[in-house]
Amino acid sequence: MNKPLPRETRLEAASADDAPWVISPPRPADMAALAALTFPSYRPLLPCCLTGEVPNGLMVLALVARAGDTPVGLVMAQWQQHIDVAGDGSPSHIAAQLISVCVAPAWRRSGIAVRLMRAMEDEVCKRGGMYLTTSYTTRMPAWRAFEQLLATCHWATPTPSLLMSQGRVADVLASPTLAQAHEAPPGFELFDWSQRRADEVARLQLDVENGAIPGTLSPFADVEEIEPNISVGLRHQGEVVAWMIVTRSPLMQNALCYRSLYVRPQLRAAYALGPLVLAHALHRHNASPVKAERPVGVFGMSVEMSTKMINFFRKRLSPYCFSTYESRTSVKRLNN
Ligand SMILES: CC(C)(COP(=O)(O)OP(=O)(O)OC[C@H]1O[C@@H](n2cnc3c(N)ncnc32)[C@H](O)[C@@H]1OP(=O)(O)O)[C@@H](O)C(=O)NCCC(=O)NCCS
Repeated sequence: MNKPLPRETRLEAASADDAPWVISPPRPADMAALAALTFPSYRPLLPCCLTGEVPNGLMVLALVARAGDTPVGLVMAQWQQHIDVAGDGSPSHIAAQLISVCVAPAWRRSGIAVRLMRAMEDEVCKRGGMYLTTSYTTRMPAWRAFEQLLATCHWATPTPSLLMSQGRVADVLASPTLAQAHEAPPGFELFDWSQRRADEVARLQLDVENGAIPGTLSPFADVEEIEPNISVGLRHQGEVVAWMIVTRSPLMQNALCYRSLYVRPQLRAAYALGPLVLAHALHRHNASPVKAERPVGVFGMSVEMSTKMINFFRKRLSPYCFSTYESRTSVKRLNN
């Protein structure tokens, strides 16, 4: 699984005899042209496609569609670690994530993306991968074309995983529900995330490991980016029962990411604890020196949250934001 692609092997000729392009692995001379065929955040991974090396140990695969010597399309995938793509509780499936597919504008609508996707599926399959997954947002201009591409390639119908909004924190605090940071109800105690106790961390880690807290809402994800004095926790009867974890977005230099909002299921709906921890984090963000550099909040609400919380997000938060979109995922089982 860790061998890079052979450098000059032609993987696939175009299907039509007169098709003026072929698909092959990237070459060192392609690097500048390939940068224009992927998102800025994935450009640093391009040199790794030549060597098979990556800093986090997850290998990146890339395939290039080229017309003569000119790259006109690029697909990239990265191996994933321990992911339950089948949804059966087994984390042992070997899967790769499709992270980018792009065709140069002049070459679109001629079947290149379909051929790139199929070539990548074959490559992942050949290396023992059982699934390809992908995750994207409807903020991406080409999301409709991308979903059509997934359908043509027989991927599962995409499912929304997050509702996303972006807003300036000062504007979001104009929402009447969030304008005031209310006190915690009797018996509950709000605390700065920096004040979490070691025994609480141990209990939460256990709950993440045994699945009681979904991994996507874990307060330990992206831990090195957490803002511990803006993130908020809530205790009840000696237990951490809710949190709003806020991180420095690595993708948006002007934003803090409201990364994980979670309320223990048994306490949902009764006390509006979600809005409470969110409002407290927003007020801390608004009063923090960090706001000068990062005035924007990126908000994500898992579609698994309660209907009440989803309605809150749509009615009380999104209208005060300048952009709202969905994060969606899809998966394809490969034939091996
Ligand atoms: C998405 C993208 C890769 C498609 O590339 P492409 O080479 O034009 O796609 P193909 O010609 O192989 O077409 C694949 C399917 O998508 C459809 N399609 C392509 N562009 C489309 C568009 N703009 N609107 C609707 N459908 C579109 C094609 O009709 C075809 O469907 P069909 O099999 O039912 O006829 C290309 O638009 C692109 O590079 N966009 C910018 C980068 C991007 O956002 N990538 C996606 C996320 S990483």
